[in-house]
Parts: sequence; C-alpha cells; structure tokens
Amino acid sequence: MPDLRRIGVYTSGGDAPGMNACLRAVVRTALQNDLDVIGIRRGYAGMIEGDFVEMDARSVSNIVQKGGTILKSARSMAFMTPEGRERAARHLHNAGIDALVGIGGDGTFTGAAILHHEHGVAVVGCPGTIDNDLYGTDETIGYDTALNTALDAVDKIRDTADAHDRLFLVEVMGRDAGFIALNTAIGGGAELVIIPETEADVDEMKDQILGMMAGQTRSSIVVVAEGKTTGGVVQLEQALREDPAFGDVDLRVTILGHTQRGGNPTARDRVLASRLGAAAVEALLGGQTNVMVGVEGGRLATTPMSEVRSRKKPPDYELLKLVQLLV
Ligand code: F6P
Repeated sequence: MPDLRRIGVYTSGGDAPGMNACLRAVVRTALQNDLDVIGIRRGYAGMIEGDFVEMDARSVSNIVQKGGTILKSARSMAFMTPEGRERAARHLHNAGIDALVGIGGDGTFTGAAILHHEHGVAVVGCPGTIDNDLYGTDETIGYDTALNTALDAVDKIRDTADAHDRLFLVEVMGRDAGFIALNTAIGGGAELVIIPETEADVDEMKDQILGMMAGQTRSSIVVVAEGKTTGGVVQLEQALREDPAFGDVDLRVTILGHTQRGGNPTARDRVLASRLGAAAVEALLGGQTNVMVGVEGGRLATTPMSEVRSRKKPPDYELLKLVQLLV
C-alpha cells in the first residue's frame, strides 16, 4: 500500500443505527493521525459518480446519537458491473484516495473485495448491519438497537395479545439470519420462535404452531424471522387459516419491518461503532487491508474479508432450546 495520506469513507447497503457514530470515529481518528478524509456519498453509487465531500472534525459533530447515515446509503446495481467498478476506481484515483473504510454488511464487503481484487484498492470494513450476520464479530453495529426496537414492540403487542387472548405472529427482520428473532423471543417471553437456520418449510412451521397451541386458550406470541427460504409470515398465516385444526383462533399478524432499521442507536451500539471506526483507521495505519474489524469476546479483532464472506456465523442454538424451556 502507498503511503497513507488520504482515505475515503462510505456507508453502504441497509442503514443501521450507529453508522453515524462509526463515521464520526473514522473521521476524527483519521484527522488525529494527520490523514485527509473524503466522504463518499450514497455508497458504491456515489463512488461511481465521484460524489465526494471533504470531511473535517465539525462535519461529524452532533451525529453520534443519530440513526440513519449522514453520508446516505444505496444498493448499487451499476457497481456489480466491471465498467461500474472501473469508473469508481478512476474517481478514487483522481481524488487521491489511498484507501477506504467501508461501513456496511455482506454486500458492502463483497463489493470491497472485488474492488480490491480488480483495482488493488485497499479497504478495511466495519460491520454495520442490523442483521448481526457477519462472521468475525460478536455483534454488528445496529443490531442491539434493532433488537431493542423489536423487543419494545413485542412488549406492546403482548398487552393486546393478553387482553384479547389472541395469537400474534410477529415478523422481525434479519434477512437469512435469526439473531434478532431469537433474542427478541427470549427477551419478550415468546411462546415460540421460528428462525431461517432451522430451514422449516411452511407446513413444518404451521405444525409447530398448532403443536404449541394444543390444549391452551391463552394468548401467545410467535416471533417469526423473515427469511427468504421460508416464504414469510404471510404465507404462514394463510396456511394456518386454511387448516381445520386451527379452528377459530383469533390471529393477528404484525410485520415490524423498517421500524427496526431506524432510531437513535443504543449506548451499546454507539460504543461498538466508535471502537470499530477508530480500529478501522488504525488497521489501515498499521498496513492492514482487505480485513474487517470486529469485536470478539469483548476484544477488538481483525478478520480477512475472504473469511468474513465465506463463513457463516451460527445462531446460538442453546437460546432456541431456552425459548422452549421457558414457556
Ligand atoms: O440487511 C438489513 C435488512 O434490513 C434486512 O434485515 C432486510 O432483509 C433488508 O435489509 C431489507 O432491505 P431493503 O431496505 O432494501 O428493503
């Protein structure tokens, strides 16, 4: 890597609470080390268009507590083409950017790895996604906030479930991972949780719910992780309603959706984001590239991007058993 004088920073993929705190830490750590910092707006889309802005210490004032990302984010189709990446690399070169810090999830790191491979651009990744689905870090930036948002919603839904003796299916986010679901279920005292990692199909999920309800009339909450493999909560609702064994159960479905992506980051996310933002710059200063910074067992760690992308972080199956045990 050439002498480090100017770095670029961007947020990409789904926004996550704490991205701003991470950005602030990147900018201020870099400035403390006499590096120039260029903010790249709208992730890879902005990189392709050269949508760059010079960052100073004041440009990240008063953002540590804010959700979203002041640099904005995007999911760029153009960056998936070699021409798009070529344009991005040219803009980076013309702006004198020696290395990048990318804040985002799986897709962000895939883009970073290809950019590194094709154009030799040095990148360090900060894990920013509510899904917590990245190998190489115990938690991702935004996960704790999303989890608490989901938990707060479940607590509120519990009041209505209880008052009306209803069954609620509450769908939470997580893409193909069940971290939010599992921990919301434990924290919210759910009667059942369904996560994508168990690969249950709609009929199996329906049977689990019917089994749980057998012989009981009280209210129940089932936390269902969204999961591209399972077809989603709407399909599950339909299957339940069509099954004669379901009878006249009073069922409601709540999809928490993007409420989980917004809001002020929790203290835990702000601290994690600040640590990781600073660590990313320090990793670059130490000559590391194509790695992701994370926290493992409470300590800062770096993991090669290839490993982050090829390995899957498993859910804690003990928690799955705990949900069943505590009903
Ligand atoms: O990766 C974060 C996430 O919120 C996932 O949980 C969800 O599946 C997806 O992004 C939704 O993406 P979008 O906001 O682009 O619809």
